[in-house]
Order: sequence, then structure tokens, then C-alpha cells
Amino acid sequence: GMQVVLFDLDGVIADTAKYHFLAWKHLSEKIGVTIDEEFNEQLKGISRMESLERILELGQKSDQYSLVEKEKMADDKNELYIELIQTITPEDALPQIPQVLASLKDKEIKIGLASASKNGPLLLDLLGLTEFFDCIVDPTSVVAGKPAPDIFLKGSELLGVQPSQCVGIEDASAGVWAIKDAGMTAIAIGDVINLAHADKVLSSTCELTSNVITQVWHENHK
Ligand code: G6P
Ligand code: MG
Repeated sequence: GMQVVLFDLDGVIADTAKYHFLAWKHLSEKIGVTIDEEFNEQLKGISRMESLERILELGQKSDQYSLVEKEKMADDKNELYIELIQTITPEDALPQIPQVLASLKDKEIKIGLASASKNGPLLLDLLGLTEFFDCIVDPTSVVAGKPAPDIFLKGSELLGVQPSQCVGIEDASAGVWAIKDAGMTAIAIGDVINLAHADKVLSSTCELTSNVITQVWHENHK
């Protein structure tokens, strides 16, 4: 049966996608690039340096900066992001998330974090959710980021199960591709048009329960 649920963090466990967007918007404006919410969809699930690269490409500025300058920009963005997330408390977990985690624990289903964010451990601490996680995949330990399946495969490997025994939960298009390419069952949170490649799309985490997760897995393994 289903043994593991691997969670994305930003946009699934907490609404931090808006803080990533604000921090990138601030950085972009300083260098004369305008980003909007629609472009931001393409940054969801994408690593810090790769996100910067996409913003620079949008403004056709990629070759105007050295690697050292790019690293400084990424550091500045992260500094602002860390400032913005300081206000996060356990109240800021998205609806149902603590309940789902507790219910999965009760059912002895293992829980992993498969986030591209290097701030994952900090965020789980701010949210008071660290204790629920049996593993946090270190995004620096995998070579290829989402949409490559590596981070989800690493999660199943660390927890000692087959990919087919896992469900992944994502809000990003790139993340859903990663789950599907890993051979796992994908539940997406968000817009059904962006996320149609998932096995099931829920419009918000309000609809997420451990029973829904189990049912979607079973539907996929009949
Ligand atoms: C997640 C978010 C992205 C973010 C990435 C890296 O995938 O969806 O928006 O760029 O993590 O996060 P970090 O906290 O390491 O900059
Ligand atoms: Mg996300």
C-alpha cells in the first residue's frame, strides 16, 4: 500500500510563494526587470540560482553580470526573503496541513519534505512542524532540480520505499512533472489548468485529508 507522502513546502505547507515573489520582484526592479504573477508561476519549484537566471533571461541581461555578481544578487534576494518570513508562526501553516500530518503519523505513514528550498528546515521550525518529518531531502544533495524527478526519488530512497508506494504533493507545474517522472502519484494544489498533469488537483489545502491522499493512491494502483 501507500507508505510515504512527500510534501513540497512553498505553496503547500505555507503560503511562502508570495514572499519568494516579493523578494524577487524587489531584486528585479533594482536591475530594471519587471516580473508579474504569471511569470512567477514559472519560478515555483525552481532553485534560487535558476530562478535568478530566468529573471535575467526575461530582461535579456543574463550576460551582463558575472557569476560573482549573480551570486551576490541571489544572496540579497535570500536576505530579504529571510527577513519577510520572520513573521511566520505555527498559525501560518496552510489549512488542514497540521491535521493531515498528524493523521498520516497516526496511520504510520512516513512523511518527507521534497522542497528545492535551502530554507526548508528553518521554515518547518518557524511553523512548529519539524517533528512530523521523517526526512528532509537536502536540495543541495541532488544534481538536477524540478522538473527532474531526483529530489522525490531521493526522498523515497532515504525512507526505504519504492517510488510506486509514494504520493507527492505539489503546487508547482515543475514539481508535478518531477513527481510523475519519479513514478509516484501526484496530488496538486492550485489551478487545474496549470496542473492538469497531476493525478488529482485540489483547489486548496482545505480539501486535503489523509483519506483523500490514500484514495488517490488507490485509484492509481487498481
Ligand atoms: C522552492 C520555491 C522557489 C524557490 C526555491 C529555492 O522551490 O518554490 O520559489 O526559489 O524553493 O528556495 P530558496 O529558499 O533555497 O531560495
Ligand atoms: Mg511549491
